[in-house]
Amino acid sequence: MLEKLTQLRHHIEQSLRDATPEAIEAVRVGMLGKKGEITAVLKGLGQLEPQARKIAGQAANELRDWAQSQIDQAKAGAGAAKQAQALTEESIDITLPGRRRGMGRLHPITQVYGKLEELFLSLGFDIVEGPHIETVYHNFDALNTPESHPSRDESDTFYFDENYLLRCHTSPMQVRVIEKQKPPIRVVVPGKVFRRDEVDATHTPVFHQLEGLVIDKGVHMGDLRGIMELIAGHIFGPGAKIRLRPSFFPFTEPSAEVDITCYVCDGKASRPGSEANDPCRVCKDSGWVELWGCGMVHPQVLRTSGIDPGEYSGYAFGLGVDRITSALYGITDPRLYFENDVQFLRQF
Ligand code: PHE
Repeated sequence: MLEKLTQLRHHIEQSLRDATPEAIEAVRVGMLGKKGEITAVLKGLGQLEPQARKIAGQAANELRDWAQSQIDQAKAGAGAAKQAQALTEESIDITLPGRRRGMGRLHPITQVYGKLEELFLSLGFDIVEGPHIETVYHNFDALNTPESHPSRDESDTFYFDENYLLRCHTSPMQVRVIEKQKPPIRVVVPGKVFRRDEVDATHTPVFHQLEGLVIDKGVHMGDLRGIMELIAGHIFGPGAKIRLRPSFFPFTEPSAEVDITCYVCDGKASRPGSEANDPCRVCKDSGWVELWGCGMVHPQVLRTSGIDPGEYSGYAFGLGVDRITSALYGITDPRLYFENDVQFLRQF
């Protein structure tokens, strides 16, 4: 019996050496489990003579306790070895410099939109948005723009078919707002617009507008002029010099363009530092840069969409947000807005 116990002891010692956690568990089950060998010895003790039972019982109990502690130790050791292995395999070199993630920021055009919206919200305007894909009706017909108007030509506007197009301005939202809402109306409409323009210093085929529409009783041209100056002051500072130049839009009467002193030549109309006195290509040597159009809403537009022009009047404007941004930061090439050049964008 004692010999058997010594054998088991050797066997356990050998089996636990460098054993995996699975092998250790197998030893535990094989020795101390319900049908384990040590368990069997303990069960068999009852058949021995009292004298022999005492000696064998003590030895078997000792072996059981010893085996249990060996197994516990082996398990702990195997866990630590596994962890140590994982630590070397998965280690990272903490002395390497980290990868920098650039902080994002708002595009300059988005920033200018934000500034404009802040002003109009403070004046009690609502902000609404409209579809890029418009009906020819809302983009032209309801805005009093006849078939013969050049902007309706295929060479100026992106058509899908005879009824749908990519809006070429945000003004169709004037119509959509009037169709839905009774005066008093005070809204601004930010959004992209699309034209078949060749890219140059002042044109890109996609650009950004902010339409404004105010309709109420007794609204007049002086209100329009006041708001135009408020916008210019808010964006360019109180010293900003603007002018209203008579113009024409089919949906406003009278109409005007709002110009600001040229931000490249400062109104001097020839490029600074240029020996040859080249004409200024941003203001085309006029000293003024056109920023946006405006005017009093044409009575026909009100009538078409169900408002009595005898009772109500209003003004509208369509801010060119790209041009305002260019004028604000002195940017002479609008392509920069679309190229996603981080070096350019990081400056704002
Ligand atoms: N929709 C005109 C344009 O895109 C601008 C404008 C808006 C003019 C509202 C007058 C009133 O050029």
